Amino acid sequence: MDTLATIWDAFIHVVDPWRFMSISFRHIPATIRGLIHEKDYGALLSFARFEEALFGTFWATIGPNVKLNAEQRVIPLLEGRIKDGVVHDEVVSTPVYGTVLEVGAGSGMYADVFARFREGADSAHDNESLRHRKTTGGHITKMYGVEPNPISAKALGQRVKDLGMDDIYHVVPVGIESVDDPSAWNGKIEPGSVDCIVSILCLCSIPEPEKNIKLLYNLLKPGGRWYAYEHVKVWRGGPLLSLYQRFVNLVWPHFLGGCELCRDTEKSLRAAGIFKEIDFVQPVAQPPYQVLPHKIGILTK
Ligand SMILES: C[S@@+](CC[C@H](N)C(=O)[O-])C[C@H]1O[C@@H](n2cnc3c(N)ncnc32)[C@H](O)[C@@H]1O
Repeated sequence: MDTLATIWDAFIHVVDPWRFMSISFRHIPATIRGLIHEKDYGALLSFARFEEALFGTFWATIGPNVKLNAEQRVIPLLEGRIKDGVVHDEVVSTPVYGTVLEVGAGSGMYADVFARFREGADSAHDNESLRHRKTTGGHITKMYGVEPNPISAKALGQRVKDLGMDDIYHVVPVGIESVDDPSAWNGKIEPGSVDCIVSILCLCSIPEPEKNIKLLYNLLKPGGRWYAYEHVKVWRGGPLLSLYQRFVNLVWPHFLGGCELCRDTEKSLRAAGIFKEIDFVQPVAQPPYQVLPHKIGILTK
């Protein structure tokens, strides 16, 4: 890239969070209409509940656009085609398999990818994904989609149904902090019972990340894998960018469902317990001036 193009690209990255927030802001009228339609007047009077409803409404329209960008990395991650932040054509690690828990599943943006990996899906899907799957197995037998936002959880349930996955996919309509509380939802996930955890752009949104990431870690079987794609705090790009990220974060969580920009998610993951292998790095193509830098990869317990 020449200098002018780099400056323009950096400018786009710097203003992008504000563009995002303005789109969320423009969803306020639709959120109010939706709550009135649902007769959920309590949410109109509670700041926290209104923010939650705003995010659900906003994500229903913006989620597919975010996916367009993220899926270039997330699909290879789930197919076991990413290592050291580099996407490969062939399987270089392990595709998702067995009992899978997706935390912050949203409206089920990647449910179609999981459907391709479900046990017995062999005849129905394209040769390309099958070729990857057959290489290392990767049969999903059971799924939990943990999603506390009522608007997103409803959309997730519908998506799973539309994909014919509702026989193996359980929507868990509570926050991750309540998955081990039998009084909070109609089920229980035993510690050490999950083969794979998938977290896509959601560890920024969960409360008490250290505590709840540890809770998730305990649900994983020994040898289980954590597939993560997360935006994290600025750690390269200099102190000015760090300061700017903290400044944006003063308003960002209110428009983005409580999402925090400045989390050191890698540190929280490492603190959760022992992983025998950690491959969690910045995707190679990302420039240093990202206000929302990402890390991607698989952590093996
Ligand atoms: C940015 S969205 C990403 C959704 C989805 N992973 C995707 O990529 O489309 C973050 C998600 O985390 C969810 N979330 C917020 N608090 C949570 C909690 N306590 N436990 C689990 N998920 C939570 C939000 O409701 C939201 O769906």
